[in-house]
Amino acid sequence: MRAKTKLIHAGIVGDEATGAVSTPIYQVSTYKQEAVGKFKGYEYSRTGNPTRHALEVLISELEGGVAGFAFASGMAATSSVMMLLSKGDHVILTDDVYGGTFRVISKVLNRFGIEATFVDTGDIANVETAINENTKAIFLETPTNPLLKVTNIEAIAKFAKEKGLLTIVDNTFMTPYFQQPITLGADIVVHSATKYLGGHSDVVAGLVVVNSDQLATDLHFVQNSVGAVLGPQDSWLLMRGIKTLGIRMEEHNSNAQRIAEFLNSHKAVSNVFYPGLATHPGHELMKKQTTGFGGMISFDVGSAEKADELLAKLQYFTLAESLGAVESLISVPARMTHASIPSERRAELGITDGLVRISVGIEDVEDLLEDLTQALA
Ligand SMILES: Cc1ncc(COP(=O)(O)O)c(C=O)c1O
Repeated sequence: MRAKTKLIHAGIVGDEATGAVSTPIYQVSTYKQEAVGKFKGYEYSRTGNPTRHALEVLISELEGGVAGFAFASGMAATSSVMMLLSKGDHVILTDDVYGGTFRVISKVLNRFGIEATFVDTGDIANVETAINENTKAIFLETPTNPLLKVTNIEAIAKFAKEKGLLTIVDNTFMTPYFQQPITLGADIVVHSATKYLGGHSDVVAGLVVVNSDQLATDLHFVQNSVGAVLGPQDSWLLMRGIKTLGIRMEEHNSNAQRIAEFLNSHKAVSNVFYPGLATHPGHELMKKQTTGFGGMISFDVGSAEKADELLAKLQYFTLAESLGAVESLISVPARMTHASIPSERRAELGITDGLVRISVGIEDVEDLLEDLTQALA
């Protein structure tokens, strides 16, 4: 089955009982038992819900894994995966991971004895150096947010396997349509499904896919114990969004490529970070491990004041957190998504005050280019 067909036909399609072609929304918390412990697969909706289950099977098939899990947000998904670790365990993470991932690791999970080291995972030598005797996992984000740095998933996963470590990949930016970390050797994939998978800025959700029965058992135990599950309405909305993921990702990708090339030759812009540009350091690696470059671009306009001027003039780019939806969004990472990262650390990473991030939508690209032209003039 080819990628676009899979988005429509994978998972549990429709409803066997009625023939409904869309999975029904099972708005239910509990299920009748014929006798104690005798029930039809579902006993309580924190443990399992048919609508959520259909979504979980779908994402698992799309990522090529063994089982999927749906959570109340991307952060709930990441936090639940981290709960597979125990007190005293150490995890190595990509240094410019999403700010919320940095925050939960360095301000919440550290209080429970999870240790972490943040390194540029783009260079495997940094990962090798960061390994301790208590290291249990490597958490990658590729490409990263907001600097679009690229990590070689296959190389890191191979190295991790040799050392008996788990490889976890945040696949939010690429989605399984463009990148499938499990097929490259990763053990766990996490998503902020709030982004491209949902695609319409109308649902907050997280998804996880694991590559083994043991991880499936362990993560279901955490999911059921902690209870940060996705509700049936939001599960349904995500399944609807995923059906059009392919055509949306193609549009995001081609619009972003045109815009990145335009920005790259604009004199008011200094650095343009987009892996589809041949000059991007991760370009060749992306061509090997993904089938597209995505819709995210960051670029530097020089200062916070210049960024504010740009924001005020743009018509089609909405100033908002988040990304991956049909409408184009713009943000200033240093003061928005990455404000929870201390300023010295932001400077080290290259997240400058003039750095602007755009999530290129699926509007007509000519309108987006005209808008950027007038705003940058
Ligand atoms: C790459 C990445 N991972 C995880 C998250 C967290 O997801 P959520 O906002 O759904 O909790 C985000 C949110 O922006 C993100 O961009």
